Amino acid sequence: MARVAYVNGRFMPHYAARVHVEDRGFQFADGVYEVVAVQGGRLVDEDGHLDRLDRSLGEVAMAWPLQRRVLMLLIRQMIRRNRLTDGLVYIQITRGAAPRDFKFPPPGTRPTLVMTARRSTLDPRRHMDNGIAVITIPDIRWKRRDIKSVSLLPQVLGKQKATAAGAFEAWQVDDDGLVTEGCSSNAWIVTEDGVLATRAPSSAILNGITRQSVLRLAEANGIAFEQRAFAVEEAYAAREAFITSATNYITPVTRIDNRPIADGRPGLLGRQLRQAYLDYADGPGAS
Ligand code: PDD
Repeated sequence: MARVAYVNGRFMPHYAARVHVEDRGFQFADGVYEVVAVQGGRLVDEDGHLDRLDRSLGEVAMAWPLQRRVLMLLIRQMIRRNRLTDGLVYIQITRGAAPRDFKFPPPGTRPTLVMTARRSTLDPRRHMDNGIAVITIPDIRWKRRDIKSVSLLPQVLGKQKATAAGAFEAWQVDDDGLVTEGCSSNAWIVTEDGVLATRAPSSAILNGITRQSVLRLAEANGIAFEQRAFAVEEAYAAREAFITSATNYITPVTRIDNRPIADGRPGLLGRQLRQAYLDYADGPGAS
């Protein structure tokens, strides 16, 4: 089945989907985006992702290109037209195409809205037996990481560094030696004392939608957690570690900077939360 993309009001074959050379997303990374998982043909945490899109747009003074409920219909069209059962929908909105000039384009410039869909080709259990390796790198990003901006060059460089080191993700570390988050995921540990910890939401991290759902599930299951920063050394000594994101749900981390975490096997709490999240994504979290 041919992939279908959406560009400014039109569905078209993925291979033919284009934006203008002077699109501000291309010229200035002047845009925001969301990635929403699709499981069993239904969207996971749709409300959370659209709420965050609304917030990102507001923070960069961009208007919705169309009504939210129209976007919801278009996303469902993407799922249908791509015959998507398990995969992702990518949504990007930029400030539109206009002659290159840093300041905002003239009023009336039409924002660009594009969507692509991708099927999951990988076994969802692929990292569950051995977990993933992460490396740590300095966090060199701007100070508004709470906005889901398409400006991702530091994360591109970080992921490449991880890949070159045989790792799956890079955890970014601030000037105080504290982990902020992964390049495209939130970072979690279970401390030596058995407490689940992940950094509190602030402008230092993207407040992951998966992160927020996992915290709610932890609460519902009576699992104690702390929203606080942790140092790289605390992560090395952790009982467990994992990442969360729309693309990887909850994925265990079993090595950090080439040091095994605990016995080097995925931990129990991570497994329990992953199962709770999969059940949630099949039920109350789906739309
Ligand atoms: N990235 N932190 C960063 C920097 C991210 O880019 C992401 C997601 C997350 C996790 O957020 P969520 O749980 O809402 O997916 C945290 C997406 C998946 C991406 O860029 O592909």
